[in-house]
Amino acid sequence: MLTDYWYIACPSASVRRHPLAVQVLSRNLVLFRTEDGRPAALEDRCAHRGMPLAGGRVNHGGLQCPYHGWCYDKSGKAVRMPAVPRHESCLPDASIAAFKCVEQDGYIWVCLGSNPVHELPPAFPHLGEQGWTSFRMYNRFEAPVESCLENFLDCPHATFVHRHWFRTPSHREVRCSVRALDDGAVAQYFDEPREKSLVWSLLTPARGDMQHTDRYIAPSTTRVDYRFAEDRRYIVTSFCTAVTDKLTDVYTVITFRYGIWGPLMRLYFEPLSHRIIAQDVSTLQQQHANLAKHEDQSFRIIEQDVLLPHIRRWRRSLESGSLPTGKGEPYDVQIVI
Ligand code: FES
Ligand SMILES: [Fe+2]
Repeated sequence: MLTDYWYIACPSASVRRHPLAVQVLSRNLVLFRTEDGRPAALEDRCAHRGMPLAGGRVNHGGLQCPYHGWCYDKSGKAVRMPAVPRHESCLPDASIAAFKCVEQDGYIWVCLGSNPVHELPPAFPHLGEQGWTSFRMYNRFEAPVESCLENFLDCPHATFVHRHWFRTPSHREVRCSVRALDDGAVAQYFDEPREKSLVWSLLTPARGDMQHTDRYIAPSTTRVDYRFAEDRRYIVTSFCTAVTDKLTDVYTVITFRYGIWGPLMRLYFEPLSHRIIAQDVSTLQQQHANLAKHEDQSFRIIEQDVLLPHIRRWRRSLESGSLPTGKGEPYDVQIVI
């Protein structure tokens, strides 16, 4: 069932006049634009001799193989074969797999399965809305999707990996309420200590309640939400695309509200966010390079690895072709931050 969800294949701007090879869930695809400018996704393998079509060109809205010039339409059907004489009334039957493909929010999305769970890809929260400022990040992680999802929703690593940049250990115990949802799970933190770093003092200029929730949206999206006041909000949404089972492309959109100072704050938040995610890229690269040296691949999961059991439960179920059962009651976890 993992194939029945939408994944970002690349930013819109990556596909213009030339076709582009991409890998999604270990399948090799070629993306191109048809005559009306809409994107199309086909298997990157010519039906004739297996040539990669990404090396070809777009010709009259079809994709032409660079070897003998067969041309495919967006449905994957071979519609021209230059070696076949014109008077032949019909071409030999040949086609390659075509995939659902749409352009939305500046990205090209694909769904490899034939029964998409959702008709259209999900939307990024508040992207482009008045009063909100946003910026985007792209990172390739040398790690499986599950490690990325866990990392983005994991509080305890922040005081080590991002020490002083984002969080400094407070040694305070915090209550976290965890709840399974119809599409994933959510962890809400209560009475979190205010940090002393610059980013936190900018985010929390006034006293008041801070609300922080971490959300896992199956199969491969995370959303971290900070609300300091109605006009002080910060949302980090990351869509993960499994390139292979060891490589993950992560497309992150950060949307925030900072009163009239939003566009100005971006000058500070954007480089800081790049710096923080680079620390995660490096950490996960080291983790998996090390795991590869060891036979034992098992992990210990503790209660404070709050959302990991939910991520695993969802993904194991979807991998075996079903939805998870038994949501269970909400429960609290005490966690030292
Ligand atoms: S290999 Fe593609 S046309 Fe021959
Ligand atoms: Fe991190």
